[in-house]
Amino acid sequence: MEAVIAAPDELAWLAAGAIEKLLRSRPDAVLGLATGSSPLPIYDELVRLHVEAGLSFARASAFTLDEYVGLPRKHPQRYLNVITHEITDRVGFAPGAVHGPDGLAADIPAACAAYEDAIMAAGGVDLQILGIGTDGHVGFNEPGSSLASRTRIKTLTEQTRTDNARFFAGDINAVPHHCLTQGLATIMAARHIVLIATGRAKADAVHQLVEGPVSAMWPATILQLHPHVTVLIDNAAASRLQLGDYFRSTYTAKPTWQGL
Ligand code: F6R
Repeated sequence: MEAVIAAPDELAWLAAGAIEKLLRSRPDAVLGLATGSSPLPIYDELVRLHVEAGLSFARASAFTLDEYVGLPRKHPQRYLNVITHEITDRVGFAPGAVHGPDGLAADIPAACAAYEDAIMAAGGVDLQILGIGTDGHVGFNEPGSSLASRTRIKTLTEQTRTDNARFFAGDINAVPHHCLTQGLATIMAARHIVLIATGRAKADAVHQLVEGPVSAMWPATILQLHPHVTVLIDNAAASRLQLGDYFRSTYTAKPTWQGL
């Protein structure tokens, strides 16, 4: 696991640079996209690269991590709509190239299995962008999730619904109770995982992710078992790390050409 501690704009630049490098060498790469606030600066940087440096997404495809259950198709907080608005429409993915779990499916287990099949049929995710919840979730794999889980329905914790109320005009009652989410084993199958976390509210979760024991109580800790994970954190999110100074020195000493 590589941890990079830097200013938020540098973190976004690094993550977007890794996606750029991937797409320049493999234009039909498969991206894994997260919603939430954390990846937004990465998406803005990708838009800049698309507009100013001709980075093409025309042959790429993407899979989102999760989706609320029951939000109407046109609801602005439906995650497929959020991803379309925040990134995929802005960089010109081909029609039909962006996929998300179907939170309106009549047969939820079948929809989850179909999502797993679709990721597999696409050849798996080359680069997965992740955020992390204050309770240590990735995707919506809340504490207690099976470390071997695949795409399925989950119940959101009160903590997550409170955290996400800001996207629903501050009204926790408007936040759905259920979601479909890629499982931890699904996420672990991505070839490169880039997790971004900023702000003091993420410091405990980041500490557990990087330095805690692997445990379903902090689901993100499963990432310690992945061979290629990059954790991008600002000083506030890194404030509880015992290894903070070590990570700062390794990043300072890293050749700039090396990338993530
Ligand atoms: C979003 C997702 C979640 C978020 C996490 C952090 O698709 O899967 O795991 O990444 O809740 O959200 P923000 O970035 O809004 O703090």
